Amino acid sequence: MTTVARYPVYVFDAYGTLFDVHAAVRKYAGEMGPDGAELSAIWRAKQLEYSWTRALCGQYRDFWALTEDALDTAFAKVPSAPRDMREALLDAYRTLDAYPEVIDVLTTLRQNGAKTAILSNGSPAMLEMAVHAARIGELLDDVVSVDPLESYKPLPAVYELVTTRFRVFADRVSFQSSNRWDIAGASAFGFRTVWINRAGEPDEYFDLSPSVTLSTLTGLERA
Ligand code: LAC
Repeated sequence: MTTVARYPVYVFDAYGTLFDVHAAVRKYAGEMGPDGAELSAIWRAKQLEYSWTRALCGQYRDFWALTEDALDTAFAKVPSAPRDMREALLDAYRTLDAYPEVIDVLTTLRQNGAKTAILSNGSPAMLEMAVHAARIGELLDDVVSVDPLESYKPLPAVYELVTTRFRVFADRVSFQSSNRWDIAGASAFGFRTVWINRAGEPDEYFDLSPSVTLSTLTGLERA
């Protein structure tokens, strides 16, 4: 029996949703000392904070530069972490692990006739490396970066890149993100939204709810 995709377009956030942002520090767990997990958490939190600050004040630097800036701040805040790991961590960030279910989910959606894409804050170069390393390039119709807009999510114009690219109304797009704030922005824009709550976080942004919540991407085609 042929299954028809429930939405014509499925769009995925990249970092945290398809790619595991903590895989870089985990790869060097032996070298990072006792506070590696804390360093990784600060690295991610600062990377996002810098994107919001720069979007609001109109001072764009691309997401790779923010990733480097955030790692430097994380080292400054976590003295036990060895700074000579900086280049190794950045290299690992270029080729983060994809979550284990990603290939199967993208394959199923494509078999069902859906179009699939990434919409990410990532710079085009970093996204290209990540997609290549995860071997998912063949399973994506497009990889859309915020870079031409020189701003960041959750600016509505960022989500509009998708409706323009695929020539669809917002409510025909299923948007998946593990970032609750990204789901808030995408819901405000009018996408059908699926929060991939990998970390089991409590809900927030109650007036900007996800349409559906899953713990991983598995089963997305039926959600
Ligand atoms: C992204 C960040 C938000 O990929 O994770 O857009």
